[in-house]
Amino acid sequence: MFSKSSPPLHMKLQMLTFILVFSIFHISHSTQLNYTSIFSFGDSLADTGNALIHSKSNPVFGRLPYGMTYFMHPTGRCSDGRLIVDFLASAFGLPFLPPYLAHGQNIRQGVNFAVVGATALDPAFFQGLLADGAFPFTNLSLSTQLRWFEELKPSLCNTTTACAGYFSKSLFLVGEIGGNDYNYFFLLGGKSLEEVKSYVPKVVGAIVAASERLIKNGAVNLLVPGNLPFGCSSVYLTVFNSPNKEEYDPTTGCLKWLNAFAKYHDALLRRALDELRRKYPRARIMYADYYGASIQIGRSPQRFGSGEEGFDLTPGLGTDESFHSWGKA
Ligand SMILES: *[C@@H]1O[C@H](CO)[C@@H](O)[C@H](O)[C@H]1NC(C)=O
Ligand SMILES: *[C@@H]1O[C@H](CO)[C@@H](O)[C@H](O)[C@H]1NC(C)=O
Ligand SMILES: *[C@@H]1O[C@H](CO)[C@@H](O)[C@H](O)[C@H]1NC(C)=O
Repeated sequence: MFSKSSPPLHMKLQMLTFILVFSIFHISHSTQLNYTSIFSFGDSLADTGNALIHSKSNPVFGRLPYGMTYFMHPTGRCSDGRLIVDFLASAFGLPFLPPYLAHGQNIRQGVNFAVVGATALDPAFFQGLLADGAFPFTNLSLSTQLRWFEELKPSLCNTTTACAGYFSKSLFLVGEIGGNDYNYFFLLGGKSLEEVKSYVPKVVGAIVAASERLIKNGAVNLLVPGNLPFGCSSVYLTVFNSPNKEEYDPTTGCLKWLNAFAKYHDALLRRALDELRRKYPRARIMYADYYGASIQIGRSPQRFGSGEEGFDLTPGLGTDESFHSWGKA
């Protein structure tokens, strides 16, 4: 059942987006909050243009078919349509978030700091751990994105009281982030499962530390997504292709050991978020189950319009194409 010809990327993303927004909406409805701004951090799953603005080359996501179905031109989104963060903004009646690097935009209703290829860990962490000449696609990691936010903060609010009032109605989307850390270790570093597993507490620690730093800056409402099922990504299915049928989940065609790894990250993240909730009982810390939402597509692709073809997700990476184009560089 695992696919040879997969549906177009935009279809997959739209299906995923639909399910995710549906689930997230469920959360937001139950809490009766009407957010008046959104601040977003993360990687290609959320970038609305930062990497493209920052890029000196001509990345694939700056060319058609990216942007084709909705914006009618490339926007720097790693999709031909909208991203989860776009649907979230629309759901709250907010405009699409301008990318932070566009500068000079109206940011009262939010801004997007996410960057394609970004990691949760600082770039220095990867030094000496990746293959010769391989390095993260971008240095604009989570801590850089947080610094951008802190630099921007005075233009949004200047006193603790003003910030508390303003941010009490803001949603902070912290991720998805961390997927690229694992992509770099597995795909550019050739690391074993055991070694990559030993980095999971560090990656989770970086995500939770970022969330805590945002809370200390006044954030109250945080939505922290987990990872996508790596074992369903076409890059991973190709690189870790196995003749042993036992390695594949018969209901999805995905690699079981990689999906177990994604679940391991998610379990550690959820546990760490529980601790954070205990430490900051007044913060509303929500977990977004990207894995659970997307694996539904794998289980019954027909229900989501992808026929018999199965599905494909590349966590944290723009697309397989963009991965290959820089993965080989
Ligand atoms: C949310 O707030 C916006 C802007 O203040 C308003 O237009 C909209 O009606 C509100 N929605 C709900 C469901 O309260
Ligand atoms: C990231 O920073 C390192 C060290 O300063 C530099 O060598 C590298 O070229 C940078 N990478 C990118 C993609 O900017
Ligand atoms: C905060 O203070 C700075 C410097 O005085 C000013 O430029 C900025 O507009 C102020 N921000 C707000 C939200 O009032």
